Parts: sequence; C-alpha cells; structure tokens
Amino acid sequence: MSVFSMPDFDNHEEVVFVRDAQTGLSSIIAIHNTNLGPACGGTRMWAYASDDAALKDALRLARGMTYKSAMAKLPLGGGKAVIIGDAKRDKTEQLLVAYGRAVEQLGGKYVTAMDVNMTPDDMRVIAKGTKHVAGYTQPGKAGGDSGPLTALGVFVGLKAAVEHRLKTNTLKGVRVGVQGLGSVGFDLCQQMHAEGAQLVVADLNAERVAKAVAAFGAKSVSPDEIVTADVDVMSPCALGGIVNDQTAGKIKAKVIAGGANNQLAEDRHGAELASRQILYAPDYVINGGGIIRVAGQIFTWSDADIETRVRGIAGTLREIFQRADAGKKPTNVIADEIARERVAAGRKGGVKGMAAE
Ligand code: NAI
Repeated sequence: MSVFSMPDFDNHEEVVFVRDAQTGLSSIIAIHNTNLGPACGGTRMWAYASDDAALKDALRLARGMTYKSAMAKLPLGGGKAVIIGDAKRDKTEQLLVAYGRAVEQLGGKYVTAMDVNMTPDDMRVIAKGTKHVAGYTQPGKAGGDSGPLTALGVFVGLKAAVEHRLKTNTLKGVRVGVQGLGSVGFDLCQQMHAEGAQLVVADLNAERVAKAVAAFGAKSVSPDEIVTADVDVMSPCALGGIVNDQTAGKIKAKVIAGGANNQLAEDRHGAELASRQILYAPDYVINGGGIIRVAGQIFTWSDADIETRVRGIAGTLREIFQRADAGKKPTNVIADEIARERVAAGRKGGVKGMAAE
C-alpha cells in the first residue's frame, strides 16, 4: 500500500524507513508536523503482524503527539517511531545504537523518548547514537518517573471537570472510581484522598488494591465492575478502549477524567458520552504531564516552570468544556479542533505561550 493513500496518512511531513542489515534493525520514523517545534514522541518496539500495521501505528501515533503537544502548549511537534521486532528476542545494544544513529541523521527534527517495550536503560543506549533523545534520567537534567507529574495534571484536570459538571470546587465527599493503581493512579488517589474524595478502586494487582484500601480508606471493586461503578467521577488510569459499545450506555459517572491513553474505543463514543451528559476530559489533554516533563528535559526548564505548565492543563480543559457547551459538540471533537487551530497558527508564525523560554 502506498503511504500517501493510507487512511492514517494526514499530510505527515516525513516518513523515514530505516533498515540496518548488520543489526537487523527495521524501523519507521513518522514525523507528522513540526509547525510548533521539533517532532517529539516515543519509540515503540513491537512484533507487528505486518509492515503495514507498523506503518499505520507510526502514522497514527505521530499525529496524536502533534495534538498532545499542541494542547500542552509546548514548542514541540509530533512524531513517533516504531522498531519492528520482538523486544525480548531482537533488542540488542547494536540494534539500539543503529536506531540512535538513524534518529541523529534527522538532525534534531525528531526527538525520541520512551514508549512500549523501551526502558530508561534502552534510552541510554540509544543516546550513544544520538543526542536527540529525552525522557529518561540524565546527569544534570530533569528525569525519572513521569507518573507523579502526569498524576498532578490529571488531578487538576479532574477538578476542573468536576467544577464544570458537578458545580463544586472541592472533591470533599465526591465519589471517584479509579481504574489502575500504578504510577499515575496511586499518586492521583493520594491527592484526591487528601482533599476528602471517597475512593473506589480496582487493579489486577491485589497488593496495590490492599495498599490503597489501607492508605486511603478506599472501597475496592473487581476490575470488571469499576468502569460502570456507582460513582460521580470515573478515572481510567490503566488501559485504553474502556469507553466502548459494551460500557458506554452503562457508565453511571457524570465525569470521566483519567490518565490512560485512548480511553474512547472510537471517536463516536465521545458523542455517546455527551448525549448522556457525561463530561469527558479528553485523554491526550488531561494526561499531558508526561510530555510536559519530556519537554522540560529537552529545553532544560526548571521544576517550577514544569509544574506551572502541568497545572495549566486545567485551564485548557475549561476552554474545551466551554466551547463544547457553546457549540453543542463532544469534548473530544473540540479538543481536536483546538489542536488543529494551534498547529495552523504555529505555521503562521507562533502561538502565544508556546515559545521555549
Ligand atoms: P502503570 O503500569 O504504572 O500502572 C497501570 C496499572 O493498571 C497497574 O497497576 C496494572 O496492574 C493496572 N491494570 C492493568 N489492567 C487493569 C485492569 N483491567 N483493571 C484494573 N487495573 C488494571 O502505568 P502508569 O504509568 O500508571 O500509566 C497508567 C496509564 O496512563 C497508562 O494507560 C499510560 O499509558 C497512561 N499514561 C501514563 C503516563 C505516565 O507519565 N506514566 C503519561 C501519559 C499517559
């Protein structure tokens, strides 16, 4: 199939196919848009069923990164790379260095970071081939786990959504269901508990559930029940696709606000939530804390600057909610509209607040 006629092709600026016979590297680097800055996005290693599937993933995810960075008001564009292969079997130091060299050849137009099946150690190896790599701990630069910053963005964003839909500016007594108590979910629970929220939690990992029950007085339900639990707010912090044909009509929460990527199985589920008066905080906006942290590392922002930007997620969500109300459109549609406006404005010569200070 030709790249230009693929449904996921969205005027991507550049798609680079990398092959290094010596190390067995097969990679696709998709640069979607650089209007606002260098294309940034993680590298994913996956044993794709076909080359077309790998290309589709790279194209789709690269566009998602353009939108995510635009909504986080970052001086970054969107890109994504995939390495085709079984991470357990095929990931070698030589392959990663060769991949790093391929990134380096793009001269900084694409900056890579971690994604599925890539670890901070892998990023350090890739860094032997390129300086255009971020998102892991480097001496003298910000780094470490992005979970807490993502959780902060979700916390302020969830509060903005609660204020808009439930007309209260405190979480005291608000019942919040949290799916997934990992790096993001657990930290989020801690912040919500401190403000008096009543937590209902689920995780496949029983130890994490027990910890949340003990620390926050949370009620636990099974992973099957959490999405449709009787709560005011549902916070997906585990998997994608949780709003789907099976669940959308049964969700009791009035607000959906969580850190997971790709919460809507399909875009049309956003319309279904809106028709049921459920306020959905678009996932790629509310979980922007991770990419803000990566940007902070690239541009060496201070921790205070990074935190200010993460807290700014609340204001962006308020703008989305107001425009969705005014235009009677689903919030996910409005978020895409605003992202496209910002990218287009970037092409015309800069968007206020996005410049790298
Ligand atoms: P994590 O891997 O630390 O935690 C995920 C948790 O979800 C684990 O405790 C796991 O047992 C649980 N889980 C998995 N399937 C489940 C199910 N069916 N029901 C209930 N629990 C289940 O991941 P992390 O870092 O907390 O990320 C959570 C979500 O947020 C992911 O979707 C991730 O892609 C997304 N995200 C994370 C960012 C970050 O900075 N860590 C940034 C942006 C998005």
